[in-house]
Order: sequence, then structure tokens, then C-alpha cells
Amino acid sequence: MRIGLFDSGVGGLTVMAACKRLMPRASYLYMDDAPDAPFGEKSDGEIVDAARRCLHALMNAGCDAVVIACNTATAAAADVLRVEYPDFPILGLEPAVAPALRAERGKILLLATPATARHKSYPPRVIVGVEHTLASDVERAYGCPSALHALARRTLSGYSGYSAVVTGCSHYAHLAPYMPCRVYDGADGVARRLASIFGESV
Ligand code: DGL
Repeated sequence: MRIGLFDSGVGGLTVMAACKRLMPRASYLYMDDAPDAPFGEKSDGEIVDAARRCLHALMNAGCDAVVIACNTATAAAADVLRVEYPDFPILGLEPAVAPALRAERGKILLLATPATARHKSYPPRVIVGVEHTLASDVERAYGCPSALHALARRTLSGYSGYSAVVTGCSHYAHLAPYMPCRVYDGADGVARRLASIFGESV
């Protein structure tokens, strides 16, 4: 069993880690589409084109399923690609807004790219923080804990009145360990869906 994942950069590595925890015996192929980064500032058509190229590359490499390890590409392209390839398993990454709303009583802060934010509306208890450069900032800070810590602090200083954060971009999951509040991430949800399709013993 070979599982392909793609993102515009290092964000999807958090999704791959979650999949590996549940399905350690599968083999994984990760595609970092740096030439098309950042996805979040692009039009839907451009994101669909980039996502389709990634999907084709991973299918041609023999993957049995592809995980779109990116909230932006999921929001803009997953439905289109599923219509184009109805018999191929394509899983997407959704912000964990519903679990956060169930678990929290106060407001939750959803941090998202512009492309992800424009695709869905949320109830009033969700503060939507649209971040234009944060994915690129995480890309640069990746691997440097002090830089990630400073970035998390700087980002959250722009918001108030929330009790928890939902990461609406897989890059932001790298900031989660440095956020002084509960953080809800969609990676475990994708991993559980993958395991339910292919069996946890894979
Ligand atoms: N990590 C991606 C996401 O989940 C893409 C961020 C970007 O390239 O703008 O949205």
C-alpha cells in the first residue's frame, strides 16, 4: 500500500506524521509543490491546476490513494478532482471546526489562508483570521523552534476573545506546540478516514 500526500511545502508533513501513527506499515510518498507556493494567494483555477499536477505525479508514481495534505487545495480542488477521478481515493484536509465547537464553550479562532476562508461560512462563534503570509513565514521558520515560537506569539497577538485555535492550514500545525491555548487540527481526522478505508493494519 502506497499513500501519496502533497502540499505547497512543509505543512503536509504534519498530516503524513498523523497517517504514519495510525498506519505505520504503509509506504508514503510526499510531494512538496514549492514552485506553486503559496497556494493560499492563488485563484481557484490556479489551485486546481497545481493540485491536478500533484495528483497526476503521485498516481503515476503508483500511489493507491492520495491525501491532499493542504486545507487550501482541499477547499478549492478536492471536489473537482473527485469528479475527474471517481474511482481513485482522494482524501482532503478539513479544518477541525466542528470538534472545536463541540468541545469549547467560548469563541474559537480559525486561522486560514484567503483561499480557504472564502470557500465556507462559519457560525458567529467562529472568529475567522485570514492570514496572507503566515504559511510562507512558517516555511521559512520550519526547523527553528525559537522562530516558530516567535511567529506563534506574533500571530496570536493580533486576535483576542477566543478560547481555542483551529488550524485552517496544515503549515500552521507547526505552530501548535507554541500556542498557549487548546489547538484543534484536522490531521488526525484524515488519518482516521484513511485507516477506515484501508484498514489500520496496512
Ligand atoms: N499548507 C497549505 C494549507 O493547508 C497551503 C498554504 C499555502 O501554500 O498558502 O492551506
